[in-house]
Amino acid sequence: MTQALEKVRCLPADAAGQGVAVAVQDLRKHFRLKPARLLGPAREVHAVSGVSFTVAKGQTLGIVGESGCGKSTLARLLMGLIPVDAGAITAAGLAVDSASPAALRQVRRKIQMVFQDSFASLNPRLSVEASIMFGPMVHGVSRLEARQAAHALLDKVGLEPARFAGRYPHELSGGQRQRVNIARALALQPEVIVFDEAVSALDKSVEIQVLNLLQDLKNEFKLTYLFISHDLNVVQYISDQIMVMYLGKVVETGSAAQVYARPQHPYTRALLASMPSMDPSSRTLSAPVTGDPPSPIDPPSGCRYRTRCPHAQAVCATAEPALAGAAGPTASAGRAEPVHSAACHILSPASGHSMALAAQGAA
Ligand SMILES: Nc1ncnc2c1ncn2[C@@H]1O[C@H](COP(=O)(O)OP(=O)(O)OP(=O)(O)O)[C@@H](O)[C@H]1O
Ligand SMILES: [Mg+2]
Repeated sequence: MTQALEKVRCLPADAAGQGVAVAVQDLRKHFRLKPARLLGPAREVHAVSGVSFTVAKGQTLGIVGESGCGKSTLARLLMGLIPVDAGAITAAGLAVDSASPAALRQVRRKIQMVFQDSFASLNPRLSVEASIMFGPMVHGVSRLEARQAAHALLDKVGLEPARFAGRYPHELSGGQRQRVNIARALALQPEVIVFDEAVSALDKSVEIQVLNLLQDLKNEFKLTYLFISHDLNVVQYISDQIMVMYLGKVVETGSAAQVYARPQHPYTRALLASMPSMDPSSRTLSAPVTGDPPSPIDPPSGCRYRTRCPHAQAVCATAEPALAGAAGPTASAGRAEPVHSAACHILSPASGHSMALAAQGAA
C-alpha cells in the first residue's frame, strides 16, 4: 500500500483484509465565480473542502447530505470529469488524474458512474444493444464480442436480450432505462461504480427491484459502490458505511449500523430525525434540521454547521472541529468495524465546549 493510502485511512477500510478500492485524501474543489459587481472581489463556491475517506473492496459507501453539500462534485472529481484543486484520489489502484488523458482512459475502465436521469444518460439514436457495446468497442473489443457481452449483460440486469436489444431509449420505462445504464456501466468490467441519485427518479416498487439488482450484481462481480442519495432509507438499506457531508465537509462517518443507531454529529441527528419512519420506537426527539444551509460562497468560520446547530458556542466560530473517534465500541463479536467518527467540538474533551466533558462522561 502506498504512503498516500496509509495516510488517508479515516476508516480502517482493509480491516477485514479486503484491501482498499477507493482512497481520497484532502480533496478540494472550489468553483471560481465572476465577481458580483464590476471590479468586485472574485468569489468561490466551496463545493468540496478537504474531504478524506477510504472504501474497502466489496463495500458500499453511502454518501448523504442536503442539496448543495458537494456530493455530485465529489463524484465528478472521483471520475476525473473535473480537475481537483488539491488532494489525491486513488481508485482501483490507479491515481485519478484529470490532466492525463492516458491515465483517465485506464481509470474509466475501472470506475463507472450511473446518474439520476436515465434518459439523458443514453444516446436517443443508439439502440439498447449499441449503447452497451459502445464503451467496449472504444476500448478495442470486436463488434461480435461486444454484442455477445451486451446480450449477456442485458440478461444479468433482467432485460430479456431478444426483446430489448433492438429497442431505443424512448421505448423503455424509467426502470428499464436505468437497467440499461447499469448494464452499460458494467460493460467495461469496472471495479468501482458511483451511483449519483441513480434510483431517486424511480417509483418505489421499481426502486426496490433495482436496489436488489444492484446488491446481486455487487456480489456477483465483486464490485465496490459509492452510493449518493438524499433518501436516508435507501442509503441505510444498501450501505455498509455512511459518510455524512455538510457544506463541502465530512461531518460524520462510520458503519451504517453505527451511524443510524448512534448518530454523533448534531447535523446527522437532525437529518435522521427528519427521516420518515414507520416505527414509532425509532423516532428521535431532536428537532429536524431547519432552514436552508448557508451559502457555500462564504461558509461560516469554524464549524460550518454552527449557524444552524442548537449547541453552538463561541469555540464553534473560532476553531474547526476535526473528525475524531466518536463514543462507542468500534468492534463487535470479534468483527472489525469501521471507525465511527464525527467532527464536533462536543466530542472532543479539550475543545472548550461546555458540553464536551458531559458528553464524555455519559459515554
Ligand atoms: N460548475 C459549477 N460552477 C459553480 N458552482 C458549482 C458548479 N458545480 C456545482 N457548483 C456548486 O457547488 C455546490 C455543490 O454542488 P453539488 O452539485 O456537488 O451538490 P450536491 O450535494 O450534489 O447537491 P444535490 O443534492 O442538489 O444534487 C453547490 O453550491 C453548487 O451550486
Ligand atoms: Mg448532486
